[in-house]
Amino acid sequence: MTKLAILGTGIVGQTLAARLQELGNEVMIGTRNVESTLAKTENDAMGFPPFKDWYQKNDDVQLGTFAQAASFGEMIFNCTNGHISLEVLKSAGEKNLKDKILIDVSNPLDFSNGFPPFLFVCNTDSLGEQIQNAFPLVKVVKTLNTMNAFLMVEPSKLAGSHHVFMSGNDAEAKASVKSILNSFGWLDKNIMDMGDITTARGTEMMLPMWIRLYGTLNNPMFNFHINTGL
Ligand SMILES: NC(=O)c1ccc[n+]([C@@H]2O[C@H](COP(=O)([O-])OP(=O)(O)OC[C@H]3O[C@@H](n4cnc5c(N)ncnc54)[C@H](OP(=O)(O)O)[C@@H]3O)[C@@H](O)[C@H]2O)c1
Repeated sequence: MTKLAILGTGIVGQTLAARLQELGNEVMIGTRNVESTLAKTENDAMGFPPFKDWYQKNDDVQLGTFAQAASFGEMIFNCTNGHISLEVLKSAGEKNLKDKILIDVSNPLDFSNGFPPFLFVCNTDSLGEQIQNAFPLVKVVKTLNTMNAFLMVEPSKLAGSHHVFMSGNDAEAKASVKSILNSFGWLDKNIMDMGDITTARGTEMMLPMWIRLYGTLNNPMFNFHINTGL
C-alpha cells in the first residue's frame, strides 16, 4: 500500500484522492485549515458542493494541513490553484517534499480579467519548471493537467483513444508516475513522455485551446488525441 498525499481540496484533489484510495492506496488530502475547510457550506465557484459533502462519503481518506499531508505522502500530488502552488508548496515544508516525487496537475491560469483566463507564465517558462527550480531536490512530474478531473482517473469514461502527457527530468520518477496512470486505466500507448520538465511549457499552453474547446463543445468530457498515423 502506497502512502499518497493530495495537496488541494478542489474537484481535482477530491477526484484523485477518492480514486487512489479506491485503488488500495493510503491517501491524505491537504488543505490550509482543516476546520475552515470542513465548515464551508457554499458550493464552490464551479458549482461543486462543499468539501464536507464529499468528505462525508470519503472519510477513509485522511485530512490534514498541507504540511501534514506532505509529510505523510511518499508521493505528492499538487492539485492547488496555480496562482498559489509555489506558496502552498513552501508552506508544506521543503523537508516534507525533499527527494519525493511531486506530480504536478496544476495550471497557470489567471482569471483576474474574467473568462477566458490567460496564462500567467508561458512560452519561455512554465509553472512546472518554476516548481522544479524552486524545489531542486523534488522530482517534479507534470501530467494530467490537459483534461477534466473525471477523465484523469478514468480514461475509459471517454470512448476511443486519447492521450495523457508527462514531463519531468527524472526517468525513474516518470516510470513510477506511469504506473499510477496505468492503475487509472491509461494504456502505455496513450501515455506520451514529452521529455524534460521544460516540455511542460507545451502542455500548459494547451490550456487556452482546451478552454476554447470547452466553450465550443459546452461539455468538459473531451480530450486530445494525437494521431501519429501508426
Ligand atoms: N478542474 C479541473 O478539471 C482541472 C483539470 C486540469 C487541471 N486543473 C488544475 O488543477 C488545480 C486544482 O484545480 P481545482 O479546480 O481542483 O481547484 P482550485 O480551486 O484551482 O484549487 C483549490 C485548492 O487551492 C487552494 N487555494 C486556493 N487559494 C489559496 C490561497 N490563497 N492560499 C493557499 N491555498 C489556496 C485551496 O486551499 P484550501 O483547501 O485551503 O481551500 C484548495 O486546496 C488547478 O491548478 C487547476 O488549474 C484543474
